[in-house]
Amino acid sequence: MFKNFDLNHRGSTVKITGALQLNQGTCTRVLYYHACLNFLVLFLSREKYKANSKHKHINMKIQHHSLKFSRITLYSSCIIIALSVATLSFKNDDKKVRRSIYTSTSEDDSTVSQKAFLEVYKVLMSPRCMNCHPAGDVPLNGDDNHLHPQGVKRGVDGKGLYALKCSNCHQTENTPGLNMPPGAEDWHLPSSNMKLVFQGRSPHDLAMQLKDPKQNGGKSLNDLIEHMKTDLVKWGWQPGEGRTTPSLSYAEFFNQFKLWIDKGAVAPSQGSN
Ligand code: HEC
Ligand code: HEC
Repeated sequence: MFKNFDLNHRGSTVKITGALQLNQGTCTRVLYYHACLNFLVLFLSREKYKANSKHKHINMKIQHHSLKFSRITLYSSCIIIALSVATLSFKNDDKKVRRSIYTSTSEDDSTVSQKAFLEVYKVLMSPRCMNCHPAGDVPLNGDDNHLHPQGVKRGVDGKGLYALKCSNCHQTENTPGLNMPPGAEDWHLPSSNMKLVFQGRSPHDLAMQLKDPKQNGGKSLNDLIEHMKTDLVKWGWQPGEGRTTPSLSYAEFFNQFKLWIDKGAVAPSQGSN
């Protein structure tokens, strides 16, 4: 009545012991009908026996046979009732199995979500993203995340301090050539009251920060997904000459980000990476 099968869910395999509901339901029903039928037969044969004994001309052989038949029917009814009870308790097991399937899938959702975030994390910590999400007030440059030269600073709105605005040098597109300013629509850092720091954050801390509206500028989880479609994010995959791109493709990154959120936006436990 039990069957083992594997569920392959986005790479991770879940082993499930499933009960075949149909078989058990049908089994119980058949046993009940059988038991009822047996009682009916038993009852009828007793009536027949009584009727027979009223008349004085009883064939002893028939009477004996009929008694034996009644006893067999009685015993078999008992066995069938016992079997029915056994099947009923199987049905309870079946419920337990179903409940455990449910818990194991929801556990699995959380694992899938955490794994997806660890993929997303690789991109968030890549120089292309981290350079605009620094812990301090100076943007970072290059794959070694060194401080932006030329005395560039965040400023209150993230667009540069005083006259040294990002837009003085950064255009809406990459300026061609090695070591020339990269560019995208609205090139700037997060503002000074909502710094959205990636630098130095563990996967756990960064996940908690991203989904917290108080730390992400009031964004819902859906807003976050929408944000991943913006030019500043997409720029990471067209960063201009001489700059490396993140280890995942944009499509992979987007899918993992969405998967993280769809499966519950679960933060990986502290210490995982
Ligand atoms: C030129 C600077 C810049 C670059 C490069 C950049 N970002 Fe951002 N990012 C910002 C700014 C500014 C914000 C704040 C939202 C806004 O004002 O658009 C932001 C917000 C975010 C947020 C929302 C944070 C939160 O807590 O809700 C995420 C996630 C994000 N960026 C991811 C990325 C990823 C991934 C990359 C790299 C592929 C990247 N960013 C590259 C400037 C940048
Ligand atoms: C005086 C000109 C100038 C100003 C002002 C300026 N930048 Fe830059 N920025 C550059 C140049 C040039 C580069 C390219 C450096 C290189 O590739 O070696 C650069 C590179 C960067 C990078 C590196 C991208 C990467 O992934 O390596 C970031 C991030 C950046 N700038 C952000 C900013 C922000 C934000 C502002 C405003 C707060 C700003 N810049 C203001 C000239 C400037």
